[in-house]
Amino acid sequence: MTPGPIGIFDSGYGGLTILKQIRRAMPQYDYIYLGDNARTPYGTRSFEVVYEFTRQAVERLFDMGCQLVVLACNTASAKALRSVQQNDLERLDPNRRVLGIIRPTVESIGGISQSRHVGVLATEGTILSASYPMEVKKLFPDIVVTGQACPLWVPLVENGEADSPGADYFVKKYIDALLEQDPLIDTIILGCTHYPLLLDKIEAYMPQGIKIVCQGEYVAESLQDYLIRHPEMDERCSKGGQCRFYTTESVEKFVSSASLFLHEAIDVQHLSLG
Ligand code: DGL
Repeated sequence: MTPGPIGIFDSGYGGLTILKQIRRAMPQYDYIYLGDNARTPYGTRSFEVVYEFTRQAVERLFDMGCQLVVLACNTASAKALRSVQQNDLERLDPNRRVLGIIRPTVESIGGISQSRHVGVLATEGTILSASYPMEVKKLFPDIVVTGQACPLWVPLVENGEADSPGADYFVKKYIDALLEQDPLIDTIILGCTHYPLLLDKIEAYMPQGIKIVCQGEYVAESLQDYLIRHPEMDERCSKGGQCRFYTTESVEKFVSSASLFLHEAIDVQHLSLG
């Protein structure tokens, strides 16, 4: 077995918010980021399609030598993680691992919410999958979870409109809709990796006293902890401090949009999935 980079997968650019925090916490590892930009968004796609696309991405990252893959996308974590783990890992390589980002996010809220009423803002796919309420119920049965789909937030980010005046209307609209459903909410999970790009506006329209949970740092902490608890997997992860980027869309487009997330020069290559 040759050690390989840690694979970070997202439907588009959103996973870069997770990658950023992971690299900040663990700069010593090698990483490959794969964005399926040509087929984004996943949020409105069916279970079967998200599973198929995610399986293709995991296989490709395994082919590129990744021993560990993080689905840095809530929609893929919600709709495909379990199926990939149960149906495909054994056949692909039972020694490799695929991890999601919902569990580590949910683990963080137990110590944050006082009112025990938590809101989740996410894509339609993630909300309809009910993955957040199910995970919360397992870990914190006393917490009431209310979800609100924000179907226009990912397109705003993917199209570089996150800072535009037009974005304000839709940011406020979904926050208001969530709080109307449950006015006792004191903690809101941004359950989509794209949403930290809208954070300034989200904070502006969020009533005072409500805590906003961005996933990146919790996912990074949890991955770090995972690698400490699994030294056999840590040995399988190469440590050269390199990061490569792949997109299923045009390289030029990726470079220009990724700069909004990363603020650094990056090496990007194209690949096709499916
Ligand atoms: N970034 C993905 C997530 O965290 C969603 C984007 C999409 O709809 O493809 O859910």
